[in-house]
Amino acid sequence: MAEGAQRLAIVGTGSAVPEKVVTNFDLEQIVDTSDEWIRKRTGIVERRVAEADVASSDLGTLAAQRALEAAGLPAEAIDFILCSTVSPDMFFPSTACQIARNLGLEGPAPAMDIQAACSGFSYALHVADGLIRSGLYRRILVIAAETLTRFVDWTDRSTCVLFGDAAGAVVVEPASEGQGLLYSKIGAFPQYAQTDILSVPAGGSRKPFSQEVLENREHYIRMQGREVFKIAVSTMPEITLQAIQEAGLQPEAIDWIIPHQANIRITDAIAQRLGVSMDRVYTNIDRYGNTSSASVAVALDELVRSGQLQRGQTVLLVTFGAGWTWGVNIFRY
Ligand code: UT7
Repeated sequence: MAEGAQRLAIVGTGSAVPEKVVTNFDLEQIVDTSDEWIRKRTGIVERRVAEADVASSDLGTLAAQRALEAAGLPAEAIDFILCSTVSPDMFFPSTACQIARNLGLEGPAPAMDIQAACSGFSYALHVADGLIRSGLYRRILVIAAETLTRFVDWTDRSTCVLFGDAAGAVVVEPASEGQGLLYSKIGAFPQYAQTDILSVPAGGSRKPFSQEVLENREHYIRMQGREVFKIAVSTMPEITLQAIQEAGLQPEAIDWIIPHQANIRITDAIAQRLGVSMDRVYTNIDRYGNTSSASVAVALDELVRSGQLQRGQTVLLVTFGAGWTWGVNIFRY
């Protein structure tokens, strides 16, 4: 990679959530749970659920259109499309290709999916930065689109209360002086790749779909929440602090911290470890639940559109997810 090559800058953001709201009280009607338990243990109050005819690419297309509009660019100006998703429309063709078609594109811009579970948006931004620094591509649409409620077992109270549907997108291009990505690092702890911690155990090549899979409900998300919590709450604050140090910054220099929205208690732990006020840590888990890789992308768009994030401010995204994967991206907006 060329020394001093230009890094990416975000020139437009967008997001989309389904209209249908499902509250904790609604869930009390279908599983043995309570609004109080869900709020206290997770911070979630409600989540959005896509209508039956809406797939990840539909939400992703809307988010992408909004990001393009914000950037003042037509879809034809894009020369690479990356879509992070753990809930694709189907195994193939990719959700990125579906979005490209929905945007009216006829090529030749490449389009591909990235699967890094809830860390997917950090991974996609990191890859986009590499593509821009290589000089091969200049304008990239980075999308994170998820409809996790399609993969939730609505009879399992330990998981069905957690997830929601959403998509976020950004348009990135080479940064001008003093702007753009300052630091980006992604990684994995594959020692935690056991499928019994967090996975959709069947439907892939390991255990193809069958009557037995259907009866055992193995085509839905399975999670050992407490185990996941322990890994997340011990690693996320540490990787955040390490990233800030490696970027040569102090926690006070970060105007906005946007963590993956999995549990408000994990978010609190990050703020505590960094010694920063929760006022600078953006959360929307109360409204959307855990939307996997879309969560930080949606949060970023909300910060931009509400005017809370100003040009020139420094933002840190920190994500973690099944695999285990993780990522931190720090940029000057
Ligand atoms: O995005 C990537 C990944 N996901 C996450 O980051 C999720 C991480 N994990 C978590 O956020 C938390 O572990 C959960 C919110 C999933 C669970 O909270 P917890 O404090 O770890 O609860 P627990 O799993 O230890 O369960 C405590 C009790 C259990 O009952 P007993 O055994 O103590 O009688 C559960 O059966 O709470 C029970 N429980 C519930 N009760 C009411 C579990 N789910 C529910 C529920 N409503 N929805």
